[in-house]
Amino acid sequence: MIIDGEEKNVITVIMAAGKGTRMKSEKSKLVHKIYDKELVKRVADVAKEVGSDEVVAVVGYLKEQVIDVLGNSVEYAYQEELLGTGHAVMQATKYLEGKKGKAIILYGDVPIIRKETLINLVTKSYKNKEYATLLTAIYENPTGYGRIIRDEGGNIKAIVEEKDANMYEKGIKEINSGIYCFDIEELLAALKLIKPDNAQGEYYLTDVIKIMNDKGLKTGAVIVDDNTEILGVNDRAQLELLTRVLRMRINAEHMKKGVTIEASDATYIHDNVTIGVDTVIHPNTTIKSGVVIGKNCEIGPNAYIREGCVIGDNVKVGSFVELKNVKVGDRTKIPHLSYLGDTEIGSDGNVGCGTITCNYDGVNKNKTIIGDRAFIGSNVNLVAPVTLGDDVLIAAGSTITEDVPSNNMGIARERQTNKERKNK
Ligand code: UD1
Ligand code: CA
Repeated sequence: MIIDGEEKNVITVIMAAGKGTRMKSEKSKLVHKIYDKELVKRVADVAKEVGSDEVVAVVGYLKEQVIDVLGNSVEYAYQEELLGTGHAVMQATKYLEGKKGKAIILYGDVPIIRKETLINLVTKSYKNKEYATLLTAIYENPTGYGRIIRDEGGNIKAIVEEKDANMYEKGIKEINSGIYCFDIEELLAALKLIKPDNAQGEYYLTDVIKIMNDKGLKTGAVIVDDNTEILGVNDRAQLELLTRVLRMRINAEHMKKGVTIEASDATYIHDNVTIGVDTVIHPNTTIKSGVVIGKNCEIGPNAYIREGCVIGDNVKVGSFVELKNVKVGDRTKIPHLSYLGDTEIGSDGNVGCGTITCNYDGVNKNKTIIGDRAFIGSNVNLVAPVTLGDDVLIAAGSTITEDVPSNNMGIARERQTNKERKNK
């Protein structure tokens, strides 16, 4: 990771061995998803994004499921028995031994921590020459969390867990988020001194702070600006809460960049979506990760824009339109009730109501290619693979199975016959 133009070594350890019984799930809590991405994958990704040289996941309970999600994107340490947060980090020592630099500690179930917050934590740790830098927060109701004990000068002395806290300590509103940046060598030294002599009989990682203080090593803290970043997931209600927080955060970023969102709480824009200025997103629209939408488009209401879509400028994607892996040229309109999949459509086209691509033949996904200025009548089936040239007209109700050359009209439907009603 680069700090002030200098390359610094950073290893991130993710605690991912816990049980999560309150999810009432047959799956590991850590593989539950927010917007299509597993909680633990979100944490591993942010660890990579901050520029960690190595990421170590400490796995235990249902570890196969966690490993299945993270694959070989991280290293693994194994915690067979859950003997506390200190014990969890001890399992990762073989990845830390002999290394210099910083170790960031994250929880696999605290998935919406921002990259900028972690970079700020590590940067402050280096600049202030701190051996431990804690990410803390101020909570009106701090019950259940470790409390930050400071001296009169404001220096951090220790962290006291709720179950070990006295009356005075319980009144402290500054809490430990569980996210830290440590000097690797001093962390290893302190871990050796941790003992499970506390109310829970656990090896507390938090004891490292007092151990460092007793040794005269400088420690410090960053108080998080936005308390929602350190929220964890323990049950389904918290999973929904975090999804909502992330939704509002992502939507706010798009609005800041010039996108109009009519109803933020009913607009589901996943991670890494690009949207141009003056595009309007109507309610009940879902846009999946990686989608690119141009300027001045009108999207929704009730549109579903899935993976692989690249949409030009001044495009309309209207109600009950689902697009998957579709390229749409500028000024094309797909106003209502369509499914297009694995399709390229040029500019200035109009796709009539009810038009669908039949892209799946039961075995393969096939492509539909449509040129510029296409006018596709209502209720057309385009049976892929099929190619339509420029300036084509497709008659309403057609089932198109053959290519249509440029400047042609395609019509493929039974001619109407009218028969007199005999018994009237
Ligand atoms: C911990 C902190 C507390 C802090 C709180 C923030 C300690 C002793 N206390 O408390 O100061 O306010 O987090 O949420 O560190 N885990 C393992 N292996 C273990 C134990 C835990 O992987 O042996 C994982 C859990 O799955 C979880 C995380 O570590 O993701 C935190 O564990 P948890 O038991 O929730 O810690 P707390 O007691 O809440
Ligand atoms: Ca907890």
